[in-house]
Amino acid sequence: MSRPHPMMFEQALASAVRAPSPHNSQPWRFVLDGETIQVWLDRARVLGVADPLAREARLSCGAAAFNAVVSLRAAGLATVVRTIPEPGEPDLLAVLRLDGNRKSTRSDRDLAEAVFRRHTNRRPFEARLVPPATRVALKSAALQEGGQVEYLDTSGRYSTVTALVRRAEALQENDPAFRAETASWLRHDARAPDGVPTIATGPPPYGTRAVSLRASHANPALPPREFEQDPVLAAVLTRDRGPDAEVRAGMAMQHVLLAATAAGLATSFLSQPFETPQTRDALDRIFDGLGQAHTLLRVGYGQPTATTARRSVADVLTRRATPDVLTR
Ligand SMILES: Cc1cc2nc3c(=O)[nH]c(=O)nc-3n(C[C@H](O)[C@H](O)[C@H](O)COP(=O)(O)O)c2cc1C
Repeated sequence: MSRPHPMMFEQALASAVRAPSPHNSQPWRFVLDGETIQVWLDRARVLGVADPLAREARLSCGAAAFNAVVSLRAAGLATVVRTIPEPGEPDLLAVLRLDGNRKSTRSDRDLAEAVFRRHTNRRPFEARLVPPATRVALKSAALQEGGQVEYLDTSGRYSTVTALVRRAEALQENDPAFRAETASWLRHDARAPDGVPTIATGPPPYGTRAVSLRASHANPALPPREFEQDPVLAAVLTRDRGPDAEVRAGMAMQHVLLAATAAGLATSFLSQPFETPQTRDALDRIFDGLGQAHTLLRVGYGQPTATTARRSVADVLTRRATPDVLTR
């Protein structure tokens, strides 16, 4: 194998931090150990109210790991990813090791480039169909990471799940702890290194909508707009459950998001039903037989909106010379 250039790791880490995370909390730390990248859960950044079990945080770290993999692939480097490789270290979520050279494909380069364009779009989408071939491509993206995409419209689950989204949204809006946590991550300054800046929020909805985006992410200063009534909603699932499945699901989710971005699609999340115990159990029953549903994505066409800032790589990286001993 030809020696990788150090810049390739810098680029992989710069890609990793572009991952999505709930409220842009960025619950990760990285260790660059020779030519190995470790992805650690940062418990101090897990959302205590919305995500007490760190499920969404593990999805986010899986997404960060996938971004790094994609960047290395585009640079002609294959990687092997081991998720939660050490039973005694449950917060070491992924280890990426180089696995020889590989010729990068057009798709690798498209995904690597999409890392820096992908963003959550909370504005209304256009009334334009997502072509069947693109829907299939997103399913295939999830499958490549051991995940699965289930479209709610074709699986007969649309109205039950969207009803749960609305129910969870109402529960959260009436929960002071939830509201306080969400408010604590809202930022007015677009350069703030974490949190959701005002420029990334959407307009308040006008009229009725089939699907409820988070009211707390609607910007009252914008004129109300009509949202699309029946957006394409894609659930990302894995057969297995538990922390390891959550990291893998994060990788699958990110592959779907990047493939969607590369195909010119806009995306956003509907996480409310995963975050309240009452609706979470109902959600489990709805997907019973398919495995564990991890996240729900809204997919469609929309005008690009703002990308949001991140903490710098230097803020989240430890460089190590000595392998196998980790001091945090
Ligand atoms: C697991 C997970 C759940 C999320 N849930 C929501 C959500 O319910 N509503 C929302 O507007 N954004 C949600 N987001 C998007 C984040 O707020 C977003 O990724 C973060 O603010 C960074 O912005 P960006 O995606 O534009 O880079 C979620 C992201 C992740 C990874």
